[in-house]
Amino acid sequence: MAYSDKVIDHYEHPRNVGALDKDDGAVGTGLVGAPACGDVMKLQIKVSAEGIIEDAKFKTFGCGSAIASSSLVTEWVKGKTLDEAASIKNTDIAQELALPPVKIHCSVLAEDAIKAAIADYKKKSGKDEEAAE
Ligand code: FES
Ligand code: FES
Repeated sequence: MAYSDKVIDHYEHPRNVGALDKDDGAVGTGLVGAPACGDVMKLQIKVSAEGIIEDAKFKTFGCGSAIASSSLVTEWVKGKTLDEAASIKNTDIAQELALPPVKIHCSVLAEDAIKAAIADYKKKSGKDEEAAE
């Protein structure tokens, strides 16, 4: 199976690889695993006092599509509000990267990771009333 040019680009030049301080109150950390293949993705966001995501980092132990999905998502969420970031769909990621059907779960992992990072941030900052809806 051939990877798309965009997957290869993100795989060879991943954006925002690294880690933020998980004990920083402005940082939310999402750690998710894919049951289908055992791959693991860690995605972190740093949120400004105004509620804007000002930084994002990831570490992914997984396939090229998972790395590309997380790299793309870190680019997309920067400058967005938490609500905007939470509305990113795996289908948007899969479409942007032209993922084939067997690789769709890699983009689901990225959507789950950003949602988990947002939930962690809200929990830490006491803004988790929305999480109960
Ligand atoms: Fe091999 Fe995900 S199944 S990297
Ligand atoms: Fe499992 Fe990509 S995350 S194959």
